[in-house]
Amino acid sequence: MTLHSGTMIRPALKPLPDVLDYAALSKDELVERIRWRKAELNAVILGHNYQRVEIQEVSDYLGDSLGLSQEASDTDADVIVFCGVHFMAETAKILSPGKTVLMPDLRAGCPMADFVTGDALRKLKAEHPGAAVVAYVNSTAEVKAESTITCTSANAVRVVESIPAEQPIIFVPDRNLARYVIRETGRENIIAWDGYCYVHDDMVLEELAEARKKFPKALVVIHPEARRDLLDLADHVTSTSGMVKMAEDHDALIFGTERGLVDQLQKRYPEKTMVPLSGAAVCGNMKLNTLPKLAWSLDHQRYEVTMEEGIRVRAEEALRRMLDLSGGWNAPSKEEEELEMASVGASGCGCA
Ligand code: 13P
Ligand code: SF4
Repeated sequence: MTLHSGTMIRPALKPLPDVLDYAALSKDELVERIRWRKAELNAVILGHNYQRVEIQEVSDYLGDSLGLSQEASDTDADVIVFCGVHFMAETAKILSPGKTVLMPDLRAGCPMADFVTGDALRKLKAEHPGAAVVAYVNSTAEVKAESTITCTSANAVRVVESIPAEQPIIFVPDRNLARYVIRETGRENIIAWDGYCYVHDDMVLEELAEARKKFPKALVVIHPEARRDLLDLADHVTSTSGMVKMAEDHDALIFGTERGLVDQLQKRYPEKTMVPLSGAAVCGNMKLNTLPKLAWSLDHQRYEVTMEEGIRVRAEEALRRMLDLSGGWNAPSKEEEELEMASVGASGCGCA
């Protein structure tokens, strides 16, 4: 069998009919299939830090929501396979409308994102006509489209500080991140939506006290989606990629975040003390992505993420404002823009 321009490389790998057929393959076979199809499609795999270790190992880029958005915006791949949750894949599609964005499992949603709908946000905006809306990226495209600017856990404070001090802010959907931003900025004119992440909100003071007792020399680093009482006792508060950076410089850390990140760091630094604040902090939604599903997704080019173009365009404005602030996006040249638009379908979005 030949692949591209007549070069004999290896026999083409035919897609198998069902995801269960992939589950019967060995890890090596799956990895080989993933690499092969990725090269054939000019695809890139973006993986969030909470993914299973075997998904992290085949990811071309692993990171937090900000880093993944920047990567989705910059990549020259034709296909993006997003191993994370739905809002992350949606963000990639918003930023790269001409590319095919795939998710291995469409059920991988973020329950926090579902706390606020476009309708509910429009209602609150009508009650506060002068307010700016800051949407945590853990939100739907429709909510982003209703927002002034988005933020991630890595830049929420900077984003809020970019808004004039006297202007009220509606902050959606995470009440814990909002409270953290209020603490850091001293602003009182922030109206926080009452949403939360079940994984981080469930971490409690008793678990923190227990972990400190067991590892007295370890620094405690907690994600800003955790409750304010925990954040007040943390040595550091940062995003998942901020935690990865801290692990480079410290020998002992207790992580107040999802287990996938801790698994990654324990594997990378077996000689260090890298422990979870709570063993129960597992995001079942992130774990829906598996190696067999990823191989199936690439082979069948499913499930494709699509959205209404009017929503996409407005959501992109809010995301670009954030990326501009974070110094992570270069405006495309005229030529790049023309190429991008040439691949956008008649419906206005990049889907088939
Ligand atoms: P990060 O942006 O810090 O990776 O967080 C994303 C997330 O979903 C945390 O629960
Ligand atoms: Fe959503 Fe929480 Fe899972 Fe992050 S850890 S994806 S915020 S449910």
